[in-house]
Amino acid sequence: MVSTTPKNIFCTGSIIMDISVRCPQFPSVGETMYTSFPYELAPGGKGGNQAVAAARLGGNVKILGRLSTDDYGKELEKNLLDSNVDIQYLTKDEKEKSGVAFVWVNESGENQIICSPAVNTKCSFDDYAKVLHNISPGDIVIITLELPGILLEQIIKLVKEKEGFLILDPSGGDYSRLSPDLMSYIDLVKPNEVEAEILTGIKITDISSQENALEILEKYGVSYPLISLGENGVIYKNNGKIIHLAGQRVNALDTTAAGDTFIGAFAAKLSHGFSIDESVQYGNIAASICVQRRGAQSSIPSAKEVDY
Ligand code: RIB
Repeated sequence: MVSTTPKNIFCTGSIIMDISVRCPQFPSVGETMYTSFPYELAPGGKGGNQAVAAARLGGNVKILGRLSTDDYGKELEKNLLDSNVDIQYLTKDEKEKSGVAFVWVNESGENQIICSPAVNTKCSFDDYAKVLHNISPGDIVIITLELPGILLEQIIKLVKEKEGFLILDPSGGDYSRLSPDLMSYIDLVKPNEVEAEILTGIKITDISSQENALEILEKYGVSYPLISLGENGVIYKNNGKIIHLAGQRVNALDTTAAGDTFIGAFAAKLSHGFSIDESVQYGNIAASICVQRRGAQSSIPSAKEVDY
């Protein structure tokens, strides 16, 4: 069933300027490596990427958090606006600097990232609560572990009290804050293989370890546990049924923001009343387009490209 009035999507993760450089392979500890490629400066941050993906793919998206008024902040703001993200609830901060992420991308398209989130760490409960207090049942809220300290728990509980649909991207922070009790509030969690091991204690090596990890996440109380498997697609559980959706066969140039694109695309589709299975399929296609291009928000496809 497809709804005519889409649910709202609220994104809460970081908004960051990415400084990316291509390298033949990752440097070893103590090694200085040279590359013939120039560095690139482009909008990123998990919250910014998820918001841009959801908005470009037809979602009604509002981003919450803090944005510096410095030069990077202005550029980040322009890019959000150009992508149709509603920024009216962002708190502007004149004192703190924008966050930056240093991204290395190797020849296989894999990345290593060091993030200095700066202004993003200054968010207060109020920055989010003033908006989240007024959400409607079924509105979608996307969170990451970038939410500082106790804010993570406060926001999770507030969203569930308001009957929002909570998507957790368990990356970007301290996993010890994710107790099994807190996990029971989550509707959909999307760890990658490394994060799935941290959350469940199970090393993801084959189908049976994937299924065991999904079962543990389900036992915590997550309604739809989903593990992203990179080029091998995703595996998830929906109403007791395990579904493996194979990855699209593409030539990956840069995997930065692929997970964010998956989440944003999933949320956009779900917000229009499509099923979990349809929304996962949509996310999978969107992410496969994202990895064929370089950069974070610069690589996120439009609805025209994903709907083809
Ligand atoms: O998820 C990808 C993002 O993580 C990058 O854009 C970078 O900003 C880091 O936060």
